[in-house]
Amino acid sequence: MTPLLSIKNLSAGYHGALALIKVSLTLNEGETVAVVGGNGAGKTTLIRTIAGMVPSTCGEIWFQNADITQARNDVICELGLAQVPEGRQLFPDLSVEDNLNLGGALKRSRHSRRQNLERVFGLFPRLQERRRQMAGTLSGGEQQMVAIGRALMAEPKLVMMDEPSLGLSPIMVEMMFETIAQLNRDGLSILLVEQNVTESLALATRGYVLENAEVVIEGRSADLLKDDRIRRAYLGL
Ligand SMILES: Nc1ncnc2c1ncn2[C@@H]1O[C@H](COP(=O)(O)OP(=O)(O)OP(=O)(O)O)[C@@H](O)[C@H]1O
Ligand SMILES: [Mg+2]
Repeated sequence: MTPLLSIKNLSAGYHGALALIKVSLTLNEGETVAVVGGNGAGKTTLIRTIAGMVPSTCGEIWFQNADITQARNDVICELGLAQVPEGRQLFPDLSVEDNLNLGGALKRSRHSRRQNLERVFGLFPRLQERRRQMAGTLSGGEQQMVAIGRALMAEPKLVMMDEPSLGLSPIMVEMMFETIAQLNRDGLSILLVEQNVTESLALATRGYVLENAEVVIEGRSADLLKDDRIRRAYLGL
């Protein structure tokens, strides 16, 4: 079976300093794959390089059967690869609904914008109640719902989520992970970047540990949760 996403020996960086070194990763259709690692490990750079926002210096990125290594971000979005960026990146002075509609402006999804909006409101009833509220005045958890909803408006096949639980209260974190699990059960493939190692590995089938720009451990989530190196470094055990 061809993986949905296949990354081979990918390197990328900023001003000559490498932030990703020969990273290889695969994600099969229907899978949730976790990428975990500490601050500055290269997690956001990985997502931004896949999304065509940071140029790679070597390696390949394949999405379905397309080589997207050199593709522009807008082309990649049209293929059905969406992202929930680090820090949400909403337009604070636009309403919830307008922020969501921006995610639905692609050719691939604009004809079904209404149905997609209803689907997002079904998933997050709180956003329907607050559809006219300015996004900048929402709570952190509500803003994260908008960021996820905006990605879903593009009818993606794969969503890359960059630390969706960051800065949320424990109850909100639980809810967010439950929502991500539900989206996966409904058929969405997910690349989940997290510092919340236990929760994200519990959700994912497989995981990769990034340290200093390199993949240092990879495997099935159940094995990673038992791995002494991971327990010591990330779980404080
Ligand atoms: N725009 C940029 N210009 C220069 N260096 C950058 C830029 N963005 C990231 N870096 C550097 O690349 C390295 C990896 O950063 P990255 O943001 O990918 O890490 P991360 O794993 O997402 O960390 P965090 O968990 O803190 O979000 C860091 O050393 C960072 O300083
Ligand atoms: Mg980051």
